[in-house]
Amino acid sequence: MTTWFITGISRGLGKALAQARLACGDTVIGTARTTEVPLEEGLGRLHLLSADLSDGDDAEAAIRQAFEIAGRIDVIVNNAGYGLLGALEMAANEDVERLFSVDVFAPFRIIKAALPFLRAQGRGHIINVTSIAGRAPGIGSAMYSAAKAALEGMSAALALEVEPFGIKVTAVAPGAFRTDFLSDHSIRKSDAAGAAYAETIGQSSAAFDAAHGRQAGDPVLAAQALLDLVKSDNPPLHLLLGTDALRRARSKIDQVAKEIDAWEAVTRSTDFVGA
Ligand SMILES: NC(=O)c1ccc[n+]([C@@H]2O[C@H](COP(=O)([O-])OP(=O)(O)OC[C@H]3O[C@@H](n4cnc5c(N)ncnc54)[C@H](OP(=O)(O)O)[C@@H]3O)[C@@H](O)[C@H]2O)c1
Repeated sequence: MTTWFITGISRGLGKALAQARLACGDTVIGTARTTEVPLEEGLGRLHLLSADLSDGDDAEAAIRQAFEIAGRIDVIVNNAGYGLLGALEMAANEDVERLFSVDVFAPFRIIKAALPFLRAQGRGHIINVTSIAGRAPGIGSAMYSAAKAALEGMSAALALEVEPFGIKVTAVAPGAFRTDFLSDHSIRKSDAAGAAYAETIGQSSAAFDAAHGRQAGDPVLAAQALLDLVKSDNPPLHLLLGTDALRRARSKIDQVAKEIDAWEAVTRSTDFVGA
């Protein structure tokens, strides 16, 4: 049986993953901001830790406590997070700082505190839940995309650092999943963009509102996909979830390749002669 540390098991993807692992007899040590998480232990064992991940000390304390409880942790899933939508120009500094605290600095603090334990174990899998917004940003999500891109970059470099210790890292980028993500309870919005952005951000904001409850992604199937990932002998560094994520990622790759080709001469023009 496997021991999982999962942040944000109160709702959405984290809850679906925790529920699936408990049903199969795994141990789940999960964080939540509430003490009432309606999860059934099933064949497994649930340990609920209280943590507000906007507080880095809370994040670090939770992972340390998890190792105290379990002794060994096989999979760490940095899942908790939320989005901030709206025009960058209208984003309040404190809202962006809080977003980065939860979506970037909490995973950093958790991973940093976990690494001595994982190195001692000589194994472990760190899964960072990012977003397709971090790889192929759309309009109206600049700072959320920035936060998730940061987590993607952190994951990719970290994977190189910890590979010699037998530790695996995967950045999982979901497309739109039918969770609370776009609900008023989760998503944060910057002040209305006003006339200047009405045709752009205003329309994307309306599209996000309309998408709530209609997303194609099924959280239960995402939980199954994460199990397939963990079971693999050769897990990927990057994993997309959902056909919308696949479409956006491929389109972005094509666009980047075309741009690199178009500007190749300028790119090559900056080396010292003979370098
Ligand atoms: N659903 C999507 O379309 C989608 C797409 C791409 C990426 N993602 C990513 O997937 C992850 C899971 O999101 P979801 O779709 O499951 O959304 P969700 O249903 O809104 O659940 C978000 C989870 O994160 C937790 N959380 C938020 N802020 C927190 C904080 N300050 N401290 C502790 N926990 C906090 C929530 O706990 P509370 O109940 O205490 O608020 C909840 O458990 C996030 O990282 C999100 O960015 C989601």
